[in-house]
Amino acid sequence: MLVCAETAPLRQQLAAWRRAGDRIAFVPTMGNLHAGHLRLVEVARQQAERVVVSIFVNPLQFAAGEDLAAYPRTPAEDASALELAGVDLLFLPAEELIYPHGRKAICRVTVPPELGEILCGASRPGHFDGVATVVCKLFNLVQPDLACLGRKDYQQLRVLQRMVRDLNIPVRLLGVDTVREADGLAMSSRNAYLTPEQRQQAPALYRTLQRLAGRLQAGEQDFAALQAEGMRLLEEAGLRPDYVSIRCRGDLRPAVTGDTELVILAAAYLGRARLIDNLRLALSGG
Ligand code: PAF
Repeated sequence: MLVCAETAPLRQQLAAWRRAGDRIAFVPTMGNLHAGHLRLVEVARQQAERVVVSIFVNPLQFAAGEDLAAYPRTPAEDASALELAGVDLLFLPAEELIYPHGRKAICRVTVPPELGEILCGASRPGHFDGVATVVCKLFNLVQPDLACLGRKDYQQLRVLQRMVRDLNIPVRLLGVDTVREADGLAMSSRNAYLTPEQRQQAPALYRTLQRLAGRLQAGEQDFAALQAEGMRLLEEAGLRPDYVSIRCRGDLRPAVTGDTELVILAAAYLGRARLIDNLRLALSGG
């Protein structure tokens, strides 16, 4: 596995692969890799001859007071795991490469508020602009044929799909299913913040989504009541819910009676961790 921290060797290697006719799949990450990331790499390997992974803890997507300094960083373990997973190139840009004029003086991607300021964006101001900006830059640096992104960050996936479409970025985005622990908890780097006791409480997030999905499948259509019920279930389990929301899968607008392609999204605080998860479901129409 080649490791690059600079643009010139990265571009040189990518150009050589392209000349040889190899397709390039890209997996952007913030490191502290777990089985969910390795699944993204596995899917990337099935889709292209060459796989590039980036690790960059992006300061622009952390709101003031969030866990940027504490975000888990495990570079040696990450590099070994990626090598073992058959990654061809690990891109490790320094902050100066990504933000050469500093974090503030940078041309940015602005996500439309109806997509970027709802759900997680409502409690994490500027988060999705930060994500879109860094991913746009990484796409320009790597110029991949396709990129693999986890469906656990469902709103992020929708934001990036919108960015790619609106800015005509020639990359195919592939959403990859969430990898879960045996008890249903979605894998996340932030699970490391949980104490053993909180770790026991955390699967309540997924259980709540499953419970609401069951009620929707059974024909309940009072979305507001179901959302309130979800908030109550999370509180009862000892979590501090941020939101539970039933939305249309495609554009994330609030679901109304008759919508059939749905996603239930939830976020909740548990100790130092902010956990997110979602469940997609299709109701049989009419
Ligand atoms: O999902 C993540 O790990 C990050 O938001 C991403 C896409 C790598 C951008 O920093």
